[in-house]
Amino acid sequence: MKLSVIGCGYLGAVHASAMVELGHDVVGIDVDADKIAQLAQGRPPFFEPGLSEILTSATATGRLRFSTDIADAAGAQVHFIGVGTPQMAGSHAADLTYVNAAITGLLPYLAEGDLVVGKSTVPVGTASRLADLITDSGSGASLVWNPEFLREGFAVQDTISPDRLVYGVAPGEAGERSVELLNEVYASAIAADTPLVVTDYATAELVKVAANAFLATKISFINAMAEIAEVTGADVTQLADAIGFDARIGRRFLNAGVGFGGGCLPKDIRAFTARAEELGRGESVAFLKEVDQINLRRRSHVVDLATAALGERLHDGKVAVLGLSFKPHSDDVRDSPALDVAVQLHGLGADVVASDPKSVENAQAKHPQLRYSDVIEETLQDADLVVLVTEWPEFVTIDPVWAATLVKTPTIIDGRNALDAAAWRAAGWTYTGMGRP
Ligand code: UDX
Repeated sequence: MKLSVIGCGYLGAVHASAMVELGHDVVGIDVDADKIAQLAQGRPPFFEPGLSEILTSATATGRLRFSTDIADAAGAQVHFIGVGTPQMAGSHAADLTYVNAAITGLLPYLAEGDLVVGKSTVPVGTASRLADLITDSGSGASLVWNPEFLREGFAVQDTISPDRLVYGVAPGEAGERSVELLNEVYASAIAADTPLVVTDYATAELVKVAANAFLATKISFINAMAEIAEVTGADVTQLADAIGFDARIGRRFLNAGVGFGGGCLPKDIRAFTARAEELGRGESVAFLKEVDQINLRRRSHVVDLATAALGERLHDGKVAVLGLSFKPHSDDVRDSPALDVAVQLHGLGADVVASDPKSVENAQAKHPQLRYSDVIEETLQDADLVVLVTEWPEFVTIDPVWAATLVKTPTIIDGRNALDAAAWRAAGWTYTGMGRP
């Protein structure tokens, strides 16, 4: 099938390449000319495992093209909207500028029977408003809301083999036709019996934010337990193991640490709260404000631990910060707890040197005031304190005996509970984990 993908960021670039992998002909469209130029040469503008391979093969076949001109979407039968919905400046609400622009830009090029597929995360109520715009344009196209659940670091796999599909469709025959068309696009996932939920627009929009709100709540729950563990001498990692054996609870997303970040969880729970307040149901999700607060306190907690460990050396001591991305296997530093900790420590006067396998360039663009290094040895050299904030395998596998020979003071704060505490202590380190004695 001929498809267009409007918006070629973390979501759209992966989606466009993956759709070619599934056998379709795709044009990817974005307003950012640099990004489009890179993609057209088969070079991903960000790091995502496996993307480079599928992008290169897709562009080589000629079945994946890129353009900055939305008119090039004309002729495609299905148009995916994958533009960003960032947090609005000065507010917790989502900024819908890019979604609105994508739809209004696309309207003149829609033909009878075309399907517009919204994948961006939007406040509930957006899809029905956009569906009205499409209907009023008289194009004869229809809209499906098909939220995306991909995780960065696993985006290619999550797009090609999703764990579920959700279609929010218009009522009646138009909705039925949309389901048929989208099932054709996702034929391989449908053939693999991927669970499919066909529902209305509002439910589909809510599924996405509810899923992210639940995950964020799960992480903040265990971080709240870490706060209690910290004043009682309990071990939150053992607590997580023990409650995680209950199948109703499950062990995943119960890792206490410096908290969640990234381009989705933080802004999605804030936008959900803002939307619920608009709907007069603020109290229903008021707990998400607490989830956000617990999460942000984790960053302050790591900074406080670092400040206490440094004592008088805070103003001239060297702090080696291991990690900048919001999680491993990603170069994304949006709302990254790791970068936040580095910036806060620098702000307090510490001589911060931060390292990350993939994110140094992105972090540097946002915070040029920090010192960065790509080399672990150089980062650790003569450090008064080491702070691990992103559990990249490169950091987790550092030999504590070797590291102790480099630093000035063998003190480490493990902001992700990712290290073998006993091994680090045995190598002479003063080790502090999150919510662990
Ligand atoms: C998330 C959702 O998982 C995904 O389904 C949705 O489509 C987009 O948002 P992503 O932002 O890629 O995906 O990251 P995720 O793997 O969910 O991790 C989010 C943050 O939570 C990271 O900063 C991670 O380090 C943190 N986290 C995760 C914890 O602190 N503890 C955990 O136990 C799990």
